[in-house]
Amino acid sequence: MSTLGTFDFILFGGSGDLAMRKLLPALYYRHRDGGEARGWRILSLGRQHMTRDEYLNLALQHCRQHIAAKDFSEAAWAGFAQRLDYRRLDANRPQDYASLVEWLGDTASRVRVFYLATEPGLFSAICAGLSAAGVVTPASRVVLEKPLGRNLASARRINEEVGAIFSEPQIFRIDHYLGKETVQNLIALRFGNVLLEPLWNRSWVRDVQITIAEVVGVEGRGDSYDGIGALRDMVQSHLLQLLCIVAMEPPANIEADTMRDEKLKVLRTLRPIAGDDVPARTVRGQYQAGAIDGKPVPGYLEEPGIPAGSRTETFVAIKAELGNWRWAGVPFYLRTGKRMQRRLAEIVINFRGVPHPMLRAASGEAANRLVITLQPDESLRLDLMAKVPGEGMNVQPISLDVALSETYQTRQWDAYERLIMDAVHGKLTLFMRRDELDAAWQWLEPILADWERSSQPPRAYAAGTWGPTASSTLIARDGNAWREES
Ligand code: BG6
Repeated sequence: MSTLGTFDFILFGGSGDLAMRKLLPALYYRHRDGGEARGWRILSLGRQHMTRDEYLNLALQHCRQHIAAKDFSEAAWAGFAQRLDYRRLDANRPQDYASLVEWLGDTASRVRVFYLATEPGLFSAICAGLSAAGVVTPASRVVLEKPLGRNLASARRINEEVGAIFSEPQIFRIDHYLGKETVQNLIALRFGNVLLEPLWNRSWVRDVQITIAEVVGVEGRGDSYDGIGALRDMVQSHLLQLLCIVAMEPPANIEADTMRDEKLKVLRTLRPIAGDDVPARTVRGQYQAGAIDGKPVPGYLEEPGIPAGSRTETFVAIKAELGNWRWAGVPFYLRTGKRMQRRLAEIVINFRGVPHPMLRAASGEAANRLVITLQPDESLRLDLMAKVPGEGMNVQPISLDVALSETYQTRQWDAYERLIMDAVHGKLTLFMRRDELDAAWQWLEPILADWERSSQPPRAYAAGTWGPTASSTLIARDGNAWREES
């Protein structure tokens, strides 16, 4: 930040949930730890009438809950609050942008980050409003939160409309999973070591499992979630991006377009899932009442804001396959759900068994496994076969386990901290390009279409479990099992 001088951060949706839970805390940390660059400012915009003081109070109330107590200090907050201002703005009223023009003043040479933490239906109106107000400068960037559209057509329309005002290098489509430390560690692991690459292909990998399980339900945003569902909310973005990083060819460098070209190739290589393949290779579920950590929780249909009889999925499992030389025949099992047994985000690479199994495995077969855990703790674990102590020559897995928090004692940046600063610096590597988004939607559309046509409702699963039993069956058909079942 210090080389940058200064910048203005203009936050649309400034009193919304994402701003309060993630964006303001991330900016607070950047102020506290790296805020020596003078003069950077934040303008939060929202529809509510509030004075600056009222907004600061609201922000303080929320940030206290989302910043670790040991990291919160009154002095740092006071400094941070000085950077922060609030104005009322209705995105659809062109005249409201005048107050933004006045706030920005004569600062056209500064970097301006317009962060759109609103629903995507407003993206076009906001960009048009910014353009009409004359505040889009060559040093401006726009950050678009997900989900960008509901399907291919609406994503294309939004991209078209935003693209009429901002050029592609000015557009930062955010997927916060790409900002997570472990996801970048996966890039380091794959391309900073020689050990794995010779094994990273169909000859040695039996299957790949990518899971993002949450214990939370829809958390008071039932009405907006119901129109989205897990496929659009999690698979379209986070799961497919993780799959891209696991499966991509080694890029020539880590420049934005080199990386994104490789990720795009993966997305375009995904074997289509359509027609009869949809029920055979996908499972959608919806949670029913159950218990999490021994406490009863309601089912999805009982959550506030959910229309009676909703068929929105809160769980998805997919068997994806890539039609290319490296991965032909290797299943990539993707799975995500709300109200699952525990919070877990992990990538599991199951290697094939040894070609000549002369040693007996104490259970299962002698095979290695690499587990990259993103959440709740960040760790890398490699299961190697070792002799069972004592008589005989049986083998069993032992783990080489690295917890990143123990290896590095420093506080890890939150994903949003990194991504916000990358946007400020104009670094696009960890953001999605327009053609990536198109390719992801193209792959998902036939699945969505089939689900909409289908007379089958989503399969029920009790809150606090690993999803519908059909998810275990999906993978068992190939003779495989989810990690927690194996
Ligand atoms: C968001 C989804 O993108 O990711 C939410 O919209 C989900 O539904 C969240 O809860 C999960 O993020 P994380 O970082 O908590 O795993």
